[in-house]
Amino acid sequence: MSISQIARSISASATLRLNQTAALLREKGEPVIHLGGGEPKSKAPIDALVAGAALLNSGEVRYAPADGTRDMKRAIIRYTEEWYGRRVEPENVIASSGAKQAIMVCLQAILNPQEEVIFPAPYWVSYPEMVKLCGGHPVPVFAEDGTFYPRLQDIEEKVGSYTKAVMINCPNNPTGAMYSEQFMADIVEFCEKRGLWLIVDDIYHRLLFDGRKPINCYKYAKDFSDNSRLVLVNGVSKAYAMTGFRIGWAIGNKQLLEAMCNIQGHQTSGPSVMLQHAAVAAINGVQSGVESLRMTLENNRNVMVEALRAFDGVKISPPDGAFYCFPDFSAYQKDSTKLAQFLLDRVRVVTVPGKEFGLDGHLRLSTCGTIKDITEGIERIKWALDPNSPNELYLGDRKLVRDWT
Ligand SMILES: Cc1ncc(COP(=O)(O)O)c(C=O)c1O
Repeated sequence: MSISQIARSISASATLRLNQTAALLREKGEPVIHLGGGEPKSKAPIDALVAGAALLNSGEVRYAPADGTRDMKRAIIRYTEEWYGRRVEPENVIASSGAKQAIMVCLQAILNPQEEVIFPAPYWVSYPEMVKLCGGHPVPVFAEDGTFYPRLQDIEEKVGSYTKAVMINCPNNPTGAMYSEQFMADIVEFCEKRGLWLIVDDIYHRLLFDGRKPINCYKYAKDFSDNSRLVLVNGVSKAYAMTGFRIGWAIGNKQLLEAMCNIQGHQTSGPSVMLQHAAVAAINGVQSGVESLRMTLENNRNVMVEALRAFDGVKISPPDGAFYCFPDFSAYQKDSTKLAQFLLDRVRVVTVPGKEFGLDGHLRLSTCGTIKDITEGIERIKWALDPNSPNELYLGDRKLVRDWT
């Protein structure tokens, strides 16, 4: 069988693979704690459920414009005005099957073979693979000072003649780091000056802690013409707990959007109209669920950080937002893939190896679960790794014996 070079260069999504492993183990009755997931446990907003069901019941579920229904575009325009203070036209907007597809279609519309896309590391697992799928080269950038907060200079040093775009996700998956207003201002100005595309992935922008406010990239833009290379990506998956609805969007200049619409038209003919209908209702409906999710995540973050701080040798940079902690376990095991497998095998805790996000020695731990999941999950990890742990641990009525060093 002959598989294309591009297909061979792409790895499976580690997070989706882990979800499957956890589901299989659970089906077998194993007492799995899933700290690997990237989705809230809360239900989708009732407005979304009612609207989606109503359209389904009508039986009138048809093809729609490839770049989104009129109502969906109106809702995105209103959302953009409310959250970014910017009025855009329907021609500046595309609705896609998740923020993921919006980013993918954008990259397909702007990248030529060999061109480079720069993004801060650690990064969301899909960024490098998406760039590679478009024939481009991913260029991850680490902060020189070893933190999760890069400076403009760190990015600037990687810019060369092949650089086409910079991609920024804030707060960040997997670190939860929220970059400073100054960093965002610098990057917007820098990309405008250098004629680079800037893709701002704002999927977690409302899930911030400690009183932080979302950063509005448009605040720092000077070019609002049809030449603007600023692309804003967002969606309903995270803030509205609607991961399975697969609705996201992008906002950009009209020429780019026309190209993205053409591409998406041939790929999928646009996202499902039923799910767009539900997403419109979520965006325009009662918003209290978003704040309640945000508060739950902040509380879960506090519990997780405290539990990890009681763990000798583990280094933690407290997340500023989003769903994740990204502690450094390298004092115990430098190979994060081995460590994640060990924890799954021995104590049935699912974690995601930091290597998948570009930084080995770390694990991504999700704060989306219950407080019980978090405290018991970290307790199990501590028991498995800390040589001073008692010899035995009970998972329900199953006795585990620590027969490793
Ligand atoms: C940084 C980042 N961007 C985009 C997405 C994709 O969101 P969606 O479910 O809307 O495709 C995710 C999902 O995990 C993410 O973490």
